[in-house]
Amino acid sequence: MKHLLCLNDWTPDEIIDVLDLADKLKYENRNGIRHDHHLRGKTLGMIFSKSSTRTRVSFEVGMQQLGGYALFLSSADIQLGRGETVHDTAKTLSRYLDGIMIRTFKQKDVMDLAEYGTIPIVNGLTDELHPCQILADLMTIRERFGYLKGLKLAYVGDGNNVAHSLLVGCAKTGINISVATPDNYSCDTKYIEMARKIAEETGSVVEITTDARQAVNNADVVYTDTWVSMGMENEREERIKIFTPYQVNENLMSLAKPGAIFLHCLPAYRGFEVTEEVIDGPQSAVFDEAENRLHVQKAVLVKLMA
Ligand code: CP
Ligand code: NVA
Repeated sequence: MKHLLCLNDWTPDEIIDVLDLADKLKYENRNGIRHDHHLRGKTLGMIFSKSSTRTRVSFEVGMQQLGGYALFLSSADIQLGRGETVHDTAKTLSRYLDGIMIRTFKQKDVMDLAEYGTIPIVNGLTDELHPCQILADLMTIRERFGYLKGLKLAYVGDGNNVAHSLLVGCAKTGINISVATPDNYSCDTKYIEMARKIAEETGSVVEITTDARQAVNNADVVYTDTWVSMGMENEREERIKIFTPYQVNENLMSLAKPGAIFLHCLPAYRGFEVTEEVIDGPQSAVFDEAENRLHVQKAVLVKLMA
């Protein structure tokens, strides 16, 4: 395990290992047991070409709790944003830092950073993937149910970065996943095929549909995300029209199992992809999910940088 670029690069055991360490770090954190020896003296660079609340704050606080230091690098301020190559940026930053977390547009830029640099790279979201988010989701699901294999997760909405990483993460951990999107907004076939291939080994079921009710039927976890991801703001009006039948509301939630939980990576847009009743209701686990970003990413950093 050298990088976190796509969950497909990790084995199921490596994923479970990180979740186990995350649980331990969370317990220690809750009980005032210091663990600032793990990354003492280490520095993480955090490159952001897109906005962030959770990712930025959880990585920065996480590094501090592990005894290290986090450096915020907005692409608006560094030369990368003015056309310096990823290649040169990777080589230069590798001379100063012990690891890089990057949030950007192209998945290829993250892969190139890993290829040309000599330090661990963590994907903090691209247009294609959001692996850190899905590790926190898996941690939250395991916390609530006690296990992962055999559960059913329904993802309803846009076939975006979060949906792609959920496909991979669920397939890796034996969760059955059903993804419902409108026609023309389905997941990239590359990630559907990737998940199906992984599922052959792990026994999970991967279902792709346009029917939100079919996806949610009997689900243990119902998940949605914004209809308008970062960089798609100019499609907003059109998307709202197309996605309205995919809103997660009480009616849709009633098709899931009675003990089902609701997840959303956040930021959420109440009244669009999810109603207030659902996201602020008793089945919602979204703030545990947000908190778990901190714990699971600390575990990732320890695994990659210690
Ligand atoms: N879920 C998530 O990545 O949130 P931020 O965009 O606030 O980092
Ligand atoms: N799909 C969303 C996730 C935000 C955390 C986006 O890319 O904007």
